[in-house]
Amino acid sequence: MSTSDPTSVVAPGVVARQGFSRAFGDTPEFSARAPGRVNLIGEHVDYNEGIVLPVAVQNEIAVAFKTRADGRVRVFSDNFQETAEFQIADLAPGSVVGWAAYPAGVAWALAQQGLAPRGLDAAVAGNIPIGGGLSSSAALELAFAAAFQRVTGFDIPNLELARLCQQAENHYVGVNCGIMDQIAVACAEAGRALLLDCRTLEIRQIPLPQSVRIVVLDSGVKRELRSSEYNRRRRECEEAVTRLAAVDPDVRALRDVLPGVLPSMLRHLPPPLDRRARHVVGEIERVMLAAVALEHGEIERFGELSFASHRSLRDDYQVSCDELDALVELARQAPGIIGARLTGAGFGGCTVNIVSVALAEDFLEYVRAGYERLFGQQPSAFVTTASPGLSVDSLQS
Ligand code: GLA
Repeated sequence: MSTSDPTSVVAPGVVARQGFSRAFGDTPEFSARAPGRVNLIGEHVDYNEGIVLPVAVQNEIAVAFKTRADGRVRVFSDNFQETAEFQIADLAPGSVVGWAAYPAGVAWALAQQGLAPRGLDAAVAGNIPIGGGLSSSAALELAFAAAFQRVTGFDIPNLELARLCQQAENHYVGVNCGIMDQIAVACAEAGRALLLDCRTLEIRQIPLPQSVRIVVLDSGVKRELRSSEYNRRRRECEEAVTRLAAVDPDVRALRDVLPGVLPSMLRHLPPPLDRRARHVVGEIERVMLAAVALEHGEIERFGELSFASHRSLRDDYQVSCDELDALVELARQAPGIIGARLTGAGFGGCTVNIVSVALAEDFLEYVRAGYERLFGQQPSAFVTTASPGLSVDSLQS
């Protein structure tokens, strides 16, 4: 969930502070900001204990806030132009719905850990497109986790805040996401991609070359089936693990199937479980190869792995759609392209493109025109560098 108009040129932090003054007739004490994220490679592997490589984008959510003496929370959303209110002690899964379920879920998850967050007044603004696959929900959660942390005086490391936010999303909001989005938002660093092992939660920050830009293209397709199909893929992976564990008890997740033994293991999986497993095992290997390629400055190799990831998501994991496939095909023919693939859950949403800085404008012109010819509308585009993760500032000296 994001708030505010993605095309607005006013920084979300400024909009949030102004919104706070209008909504509460007061001045905020602090401001938290949390970026969206785009995954460069490693799709649908976080919940298979695999490895992912996201970066934080420049689009972000800002929350201006002030401590309250009681356990009440009031949140004004600039985008929805409404204020939601709840009492932390009264929260139970599902008790707050809509955009306010995210801050409520975070307060609930903290309380579940016995952390007793204090109440606050807050105003939210942002420019991450809602439902576009750039993790506006994780950004909203992390910005509020940081806000509750600041007003209550916890000292929880960002990695742990990310896990609490995943709990909020899984058990309060009711979305069965993996851990990638929250950790990317919480722990990203400027100029670097975050190599995350979703089994051990070990992180390695890998510098991105200055010679490339990350271009996110939004197909504009918002599919209702995204969450039902996402859950179905998760169940298929679990089913594949159950069957493979009967053959080899060391297989606890698809992560445990090494590429070398994959062909013999596939014999034990009926369709479509064999395709799903082939994607996951191949994708984890591609992430490792992509990380090595980046570290060795082999950006062309990185690009090839990106295209291979898209093919696997399209043919084996079956989470693409015509619009995403067209965006990747157009990108392949466009000037300056290094690599392109669908990013996030799929079934619509965005592609991520690695493009030479010098040709970024030509690239955009080519893809926009081609997409318009095919689908009658231009895709929205975000050109970004790898941005810093979650932060909080004091607004009063
Ligand atoms: C969504 C989920 C993530 C991840 C991706 C697919 O973004 O929130 O946890 O599973 O899909 O890689």
